[in-house]
Amino acid sequence: MGSAAESGPHQELMALAIEEAEKGLGRTSPNPLVGSVIVRDGEVVSKGYHRGPGELHAEVAALEKLDPEVAKGSDLYVNLEPCCHHGRTPPCTDAILEAGVSRVFIGIEDPNPRVSGEGIEQLRAAGVDVVVGVLEEESYRLNRAYVTYMNKGRPWVGVKWAMSLDGKIATRSGDSQWITDDAARREVHRLRDLYDAITVGTGTLRADNPRLTSRIEGGRDPTRVLLDARLDAPLDLGAYSGDDEDPPTWIFAGPGADPEAREVLKGRGLEVIETDVGDEGRIDLRAVLGALADRGIVRLMVEGGGELTGSLFDERIVDHVHAFVSPKVIGGREAVPAVGGMGVESVADSARLVERRVRTVDNDVLIEGDVAYGTEE
Ligand SMILES: NC(=O)c1ccc[n+]([C@@H]2O[C@H](COP(=O)([O-])OP(=O)(O)OC[C@H]3O[C@@H](n4cnc5c(N)ncnc54)[C@H](OP(=O)(O)O)[C@@H]3O)[C@@H](O)[C@H]2O)c1
Repeated sequence: MGSAAESGPHQELMALAIEEAEKGLGRTSPNPLVGSVIVRDGEVVSKGYHRGPGELHAEVAALEKLDPEVAKGSDLYVNLEPCCHHGRTPPCTDAILEAGVSRVFIGIEDPNPRVSGEGIEQLRAAGVDVVVGVLEEESYRLNRAYVTYMNKGRPWVGVKWAMSLDGKIATRSGDSQWITDDAARREVHRLRDLYDAITVGTGTLRADNPRLTSRIEGGRDPTRVLLDARLDAPLDLGAYSGDDEDPPTWIFAGPGADPEAREVLKGRGLEVIETDVGDEGRIDLRAVLGALADRGIVRLMVEGGGELTGSLFDERIVDHVHAFVSPKVIGGREAVPAVGGMGVESVADSARLVERRVRTVDNDVLIEGDVAYGTEE
């Protein structure tokens, strides 16, 4: 049971659980996306999903709505292994056992070392019939950011760029407004709402003075993460203003950064985080990602520019791409490319998109996909 190609009642019910889980997209970090469906005598009697840290877990959200008599002897579908530890909320395995659920269908094991098969073991030891691997691939895809966060100790990194047909994100003078149309830019605001944090390189910060907020109805602004090794970007930048309505702003700076600028920024309520710098005096990106993971950032969106995106590709830490392509030709060998850095020497080593999705957004085209490197699948 469990391959993506298979279909049947168990798969259909797990698909429903995944649909429930998706309602939490962009709101659950550092927790995973989890949905649950309860079935009694072949009928769906309850559904629930995890809304965010401190809120009910999906299984409990679904069980809570049920008459205890109906819950007894039911089947429960959940895309991720139920937790078995005391966190902000009590263990889901306890709730499942107390409710008297007979069978539990699970998408994937929880990679969290505090769970990692233990939840399944506890249920089985108490006599519950447990089936693991129902819509395994889909369950993994749903939580691939969380799996990356747990297994690699860093956020899942999505990069976004808006480029001309010839791969430029700005002209030779640095002008980039606007390469794509309104609809594509609205789409970027929708994406921002789904990420926990957002970052841009100092070149972009200086050139565009972006606000990096999600200006859509009901949108939530991601935490702003800025990389300013020497703290020599102008202090009157919008992202450095420290306005009360602003999202949290974390500035990563090297040990030798300007102490006066550091004090000014701290005085405005912004957090300056000291980080290692590499040989070229640039912020160590892996150190930044580790610090972000420690702060519960599961999904990080990088919005350019070309140098920062290039460094991330060179280090093979881009997990996903959102590339907008406009039908304009900018030209010029001095114009800014979407991806700078060193690049690869042979085409066989290129990064490439797998699980691609291509669609038109008004006059532009959006190409999205997960990234595989070299000969990786
Ligand atoms: N169309 C689009 O989608 C889009 C999006 C973004 C930007 N843009 C355009 O792109 C241009 C800016 O791009 P850019 O390539 O010049 O600059 P960038 O990538 O935005 O910034 C590069 C700078 O970021 C800092 N940085 C810190 N750590 C780094 C690391 N590990 N690797 C690389 N950089 C690191 C460095 O500044 P320090 O040396 O000061 O530390 C570096 O010079 C602007 O013209 C902007 O308008 C277009």
